[in-house]
Amino acid sequence: MKTDNKSKSIVSIDDLSYQDVNTLYDQTVEYLEQLRIRKTPEPVLRGKTIANLFFEDSTRTRISFELAEKRLGADILNFSAAASSLKKGESLDDTVQNLLKMKVDLIVVRHHMSGTAHFIAGKSGIPVINAGDGTNEHPTQALLDLFTLKMSGLNTDEIKIQIRGDLLHSRVAGSGIKLWKKVGIQHEPISPETVSRNKLGGETKNLNPTVLYNLRIQKERQHKELIPGNKEYHQFFGIKGETVQPGTFVMHPGPINRGLEMDSQATQLNHSLILNQVETGVALRMACLKFLLA
Ligand code: NCD
Repeated sequence: MKTDNKSKSIVSIDDLSYQDVNTLYDQTVEYLEQLRIRKTPEPVLRGKTIANLFFEDSTRTRISFELAEKRLGADILNFSAAASSLKKGESLDDTVQNLLKMKVDLIVVRHHMSGTAHFIAGKSGIPVINAGDGTNEHPTQALLDLFTLKMSGLNTDEIKIQIRGDLLHSRVAGSGIKLWKKVGIQHEPISPETVSRNKLGGETKNLNPTVLYNLRIQKERQHKELIPGNKEYHQFFGIKGETVQPGTFVMHPGPINRGLEMDSQATQLNHSLILNQVETGVALRMACLKFLLA
């Protein structure tokens, strides 16, 4: 664990062992089955209070965490930075110390600054889940992506991921590549030179992909124009439905800029897993919460 105290957290993929990933996977499969038949899961988080601290916009991730917490019977505090005392100049540390006095058991945090989740884990001493920090990591997205692929029927050695797009600013890529390395999944990062990422090692060149994973172009994190133009980007890096080999899986973490990272046809292919990723997300987050708290 990377926190300054003994509490278990999921701030980075580095916080999880290979065995932890397998434990989470088994639990996710179980929860997914229960959710699909609308069976009420055992309320293993009854009596626990979870604070969702979202300092940045989010649709999927915030709702997914909230649903996961509710499904397991937790009490929830939803904190939005825009409506908080941070606007009056309160420090993040003071905000966290106040939450702790109100007996919060776990914090889920999304923040535009890299390192925030690690900072809060160290200061609070309670479990923290990083729901995306700046350009650094987004571990639950990486886990849910991998589990979605495993559930699609591919064996680990058949999963060959070509990850394309704005790697430099993508925390999804940051966690994804770490996870693929950990579990031995072949992957090849492809991006315009201006938004490539320092290689983490373990990548394969000229991969014959079974999975096309396209990232969003993160204009809000680019401090200058880093791609020549939307049309050119789509032409060279976007997924065009009609050119995808039959049987190749298509993924995207959302939100999609249609016509840029991929066209609408690509999102609707039989092998598009984009909505499966959303479905798996709730079950995976339930598994993470149980893993840290129950
Ligand atoms: C990602 C994020 O916010 O990091 N989206 C998500 O969590 N579903 C990717 C993105 O914003 O491009």
